[in-house]
Amino acid sequence: MEIKGSKTEQNLLKAFAVESQLRNMCEFYKLLAQKEGYDYIGKYLENVINGRKEHAKLWFKWLNEGIEMHTSDALEEIAKGKYSLLGKYYKTCAKQAREEGVEHLADLFEHIAEVEKQYQVMFEKLLASVKDDHVQPDEKGNYRWECSVCGVYFDQKEMPDHCPLCFNEDIFFFKRPFDNIGEK
Ligand SMILES: [Fe+2]
Repeated sequence: MEIKGSKTEQNLLKAFAVESQLRNMCEFYKLLAQKEGYDYIGKYLENVINGRKEHAKLWFKWLNEGIEMHTSDALEEIAKGKYSLLGKYYKTCAKQAREEGVEHLADLFEHIAEVEKQYQVMFEKLLASVKDDHVQPDEKGNYRWECSVCGVYFDQKEMPDHCPLCFNEDIFFFKRPFDNIGEK
C-alpha cells in the first residue's frame, strides 16, 4: 500500500513531530533534575531521550520509505523545502507579538529569524559544496577552500585541516568556485 497521501502518512508525521518535541522536553527536564541533585532521575530521562530519538528515527525512516536519499537531497530539503520558510514564519510571529505588545518575544522572534537566515546561507553553501563536482582547480591544480565558520578561503590542492583565522573546532571547508567571485 502507498503510504504517501494516506492517513498513516499523517500519523507518521504527527508521531515524528511529537517524539521530536518530547525528546527536547525530556532533555530540558533532565537538566532540571540534575540541577536539583536528582541524578538518578537525570539518568533515567537520558534513557528516555535516547528512546525518543530512536522512535523519531523510526517514524522518519518510514516516512521516507522507498525514497533513495543522498546528502544532496537532504540538503535540498532543508535548504529549499518547507522548513526553509521558518525564518519568514518567525518574522510573522515577531510582527504579531509586537502588535500584541509582547515586545520581548517580538525581539526574540526577530533575533532567531536572523539566525535562520544565516542557517539558510550555510545550507545553500553546503548544497553547492556537494554539487561542486563541476568546480575545477586553477592552472596550478589548486582549489579554493572556504572555511564554513569565518568565510576565509585558501587556494591549495588539499582541504585544509584547520582554520588559522577562527580556530573553530567544528568547521569544515568546502570548495568555492573561482568564478563566483570573479578573481580567476
Ligand atoms: Fe575560519
